[in-house]
Amino acid sequence: MPALRPDSFPTRRIAFRPRFLRLASDWHFDRHHGADPENFLAAFPPLPEDPQTLLLVAGDSARRGWLNGEPGQRWLRSLSSRFGAAALCLGNNEAWDGSADFLRHPLSESAALFRSAADPFPNVFCLEGEILELANCAVAASALWSDYRGSPSLLREELLREASPERFLAGLESPGLPLEPEPTPRRLQHENRLARDMLLSDRWGSGKIRIALTHFPPHPASWPVRDPLDPAFLQILARASSDLGPALADSGIRFWLHGHSHHVCDWPAGSCRVASNPFASSTCLCGSCRFDPLWRAALD
Ligand SMILES: [Fe+2]
Repeated sequence: MPALRPDSFPTRRIAFRPRFLRLASDWHFDRHHGADPENFLAAFPPLPEDPQTLLLVAGDSARRGWLNGEPGQRWLRSLSSRFGAAALCLGNNEAWDGSADFLRHPLSESAALFRSAADPFPNVFCLEGEILELANCAVAASALWSDYRGSPSLLREELLREASPERFLAGLESPGLPLEPEPTPRRLQHENRLARDMLLSDRWGSGKIRIALTHFPPHPASWPVRDPLDPAFLQILARASSDLGPALADSGIRFWLHGHSHHVCDWPAGSCRVASNPFASSTCLCGSCRFDPLWRAALD
């Protein structure tokens, strides 16, 4: 992970002036299409070719190293030829090699591997902890590892505090909820703090449309289930999002685009539009959301 300083974020610049954004995430190519290298391309054509567009990919395209191999390079090449530019942020899958310890490799090494996958393509950017500045907009990109990673009991108490007294009492009397904490709860807090500092800083994208691209959601409202006593909700929150609170609405960021939840969402946090459009929405807990290949937002 690069050493982020509050007054200087790593920035890459291109002259391209996109008229539109497109959004996708969570393809999980290696998991769903890995058996047949040709099949991953079949997942792509639903997004129309659009040279006026900046495509944003909010992580979990595939596991660690897949983008660097031949199928991944072919996919990145197809992004390069279909869109004016494409920016991808690191997801938890891009840091994971499939082993039981999902952070077996140092994050800095996984981020470097991820970045290098885009090296052959001048208009494709694999970003972690850095800014992509274009003619009319700027993208700040990071995985934004979840901060909901305390112990299950603390998490439960924290959520119950926000519920009604009746529900709080009901929760105390209920049997233990089936939470499964992540195996590495504390190792990612530092990265989460660095990412927050960058994303919420006003020292990037001055005078341009500001776009945050993160894998993890910036707020629990992006998840499909809202009942704080729902075990499924608690379980996904235990591994699943940050809560930037009022800072999200006050950030001056026009679009906060994320992945990870496998849930299609589009909701306002003040003047910030928070949205997710995951290809993997067929596995969402809500059971009804659908990836929209025509998702497009105008940059005006
Ligand atoms: Fe994810």
